[in-house]
Amino acid sequence: MRILGIESSCDETAASVVEDGKMVLSSVVASQMTTHGKYGGVVPELASREHLRAIVPVVREALGQAGTRLGDLAAIAATVGPGLVGSLLVGLTYAKSLSFARGLPLIAVNHIEGHIHAVILEARRAETPVEFPALALVVSGGHTHLFEVLEGFHYRLLGKTRDDAAGEAFDKVAKLLGFGYPGGPVVDRLAPYGDGSAVRFTFAKMKGNALDFSFSGLKTAVLRWVEARDMESEIETRRALRRERSVPMTEEWLAVTPRPTLDLLASFQRAVIKELLTRAAASAESMDARSMIISGGVACNSGLRGAARSAGLGYPVHFPSPGLSTDNAAMIAAAAFPKLARGEVASLDIAAQANLSLA
Ligand code: KG4
Ligand code: ZN
Repeated sequence: MRILGIESSCDETAASVVEDGKMVLSSVVASQMTTHGKYGGVVPELASREHLRAIVPVVREALGQAGTRLGDLAAIAATVGPGLVGSLLVGLTYAKSLSFARGLPLIAVNHIEGHIHAVILEARRAETPVEFPALALVVSGGHTHLFEVLEGFHYRLLGKTRDDAAGEAFDKVAKLLGFGYPGGPVVDRLAPYGDGSAVRFTFAKMKGNALDFSFSGLKTAVLRWVEARDMESEIETRRALRRERSVPMTEEWLAVTPRPTLDLLASFQRAVIKELLTRAAASAESMDARSMIISGGVACNSGLRGAARSAGLGYPVHFPSPGLSTDNAAMIAAAAFPKLARGEVASLDIAAQANLSLA
């Protein structure tokens, strides 16, 4: 049973054909990184325009690579939210048109559920099913959420960020220091060259739900650290490198990043990881989780992967492989698989929902 997945919620136009919810026959992702990189973040109007340009060739390529014709498909799945509404509209409208023209069921998928299914897909393929109830930490540029996941894919929200998402904190700190967008991958590569205990960050105690996150204080602490030093020319040197080479190599970054800044990056990353894992472990404990799922763009972070593995949590921790951690459409097709089996077909007048929640 083959499902075509389409994802366009933010700055990636993606299409994928997945068979039986586990075999990724193709996964095409057209990144808009070079478009938004210049502005240090995603510009919604530009994103919609780029999706419009990319959607037809990306879907065609996904079908071609999978050796699949529209007539071979069991359903078309698309992200319905949350995300940028103009971006969501492009993928969803295209999926509706294909569904209408070919008489195929349309499956509407929540993007956050998609991130969770990136792990389910790979576990299904490896025949090592995820054990439920599972605690899911979805951590990306737009979300930092903790969910209880029950058998049959029922979700309960346990905690979420009250301000910035963790990926957003990586992006803002990197931008402030002249590393450009997206920030997570650069910080990840440079953090091992610094001392993670050099700069101390403190987190305010949460009032209300103790499982909620807050990253804005950390971002402000980094800003204060920068303001207390004369860093203008150092930052400008990195901006110039970024203009010259759109994705500089680690050695090139190291040549323009003195030790104190590397220490700052390492300490910042360590603080984010500690915050994420402490709350995830506490949530897992509160619901007697039998496994943990960590997914979303920030799940690519090697420091986070290492820390989760060595934390001795007493239950398995599942990460998707890096290509399925950041936004992709295979996770959307995978999330649609059980929905199709349950007959959860969307009507053609379903609207894109920028603030759609999962639970
Ligand atoms: O899941 P994703 O592709 O898009 C959203 O749904 O937001 O996540 C993108 C986010 C960006 O904030 C990016 O900086 C972050 O994931 N990211 C990372 C890493 N790779 C991507 N953060 C930390 N370490 C990484 N290696
Ligand atoms: Zn995402």
